[in-house]
Amino acid sequence: MQDRKAHIVILTGAGISAESGLGTFRDIGGLWSRYDWRDLATPEGFTRDPAFVLEFYNWRRANVRKVAPNAAHHALARLARDWPGRVTLVTQNVDDLHERAGSPEVIHMHGTHLTALCAACAHRWPAPDEMAPTDTCPVCNRTATRPDVVWFGETPYHLGRIARALESADVFVSIGTSGTVYPAAGFAADAKDAGAETLELNLEPSRNAGLFDRARHGPATEVVPAWVESLIAAP
Ligand code: OAD
Repeated sequence: MQDRKAHIVILTGAGISAESGLGTFRDIGGLWSRYDWRDLATPEGFTRDPAFVLEFYNWRRANVRKVAPNAAHHALARLARDWPGRVTLVTQNVDDLHERAGSPEVIHMHGTHLTALCAACAHRWPAPDEMAPTDTCPVCNRTATRPDVVWFGETPYHLGRIARALESADVFVSIGTSGTVYPAAGFAADAKDAGAETLELNLEPSRNAGLFDRARHGPATEVVPAWVESLIAAP
């Protein structure tokens, strides 16, 4: 039985949005099996061919706008609402499905499709449907517009805040992530070192499976609502 004051830290990945219709990265047919991440998710790739990279993110942003949150996103929003203790939700996803499901505070460590970023002055503004290499920053007027997403070789956002949450975590739950990309892949070990109980909810055992005290394997739309229900309903 779970202490009802427990601080639950949750990390989500592409698998939680898969049943909404968004592709994952490393599953069969995933984005990185069809495209080379070096071309599309690195600062060097963007410098080589900004139009190609912006087109890729315009396409992904359009896909996000077409889909809806699923039962797993809704279950995590319910947990934030109904759990008496603290809940910290960290996502590697750049979609806004957690927010649209009603999660009040989402830490987007890999950025978001919703904003554009000026690489020159760091100003952020709502991303237009179509970003183009000729777009200028509304503040500094330079043509340094890029997606507000973290690429390989760049430092993820909010790491200090996440580290503090992991230090005080009683329970760490990893949902729909392959455990391949650091530093997120190291959070389970960090939480365990801090004394947290660790749980994996994923379609199949991830690369990090050995780090978890418990696991439930299956589609996120089934295992996540079942886990939330078991927590909320427990006496
Ligand atoms: P991956 O594509 O690496 O992993 C997705 C995980 O979700 C796999 O372990 C699948 O088994 C699982 N999965 C698939 N469908 C599922 C379902 N219906 N229910 C539950 N689990 C399911 O995606 P991430 O781990 O999120 O970074 O990838 C991490 C980072 O790599 C991304 O944030 C992105 C990518 O490159 C950047 O772009 C910087």
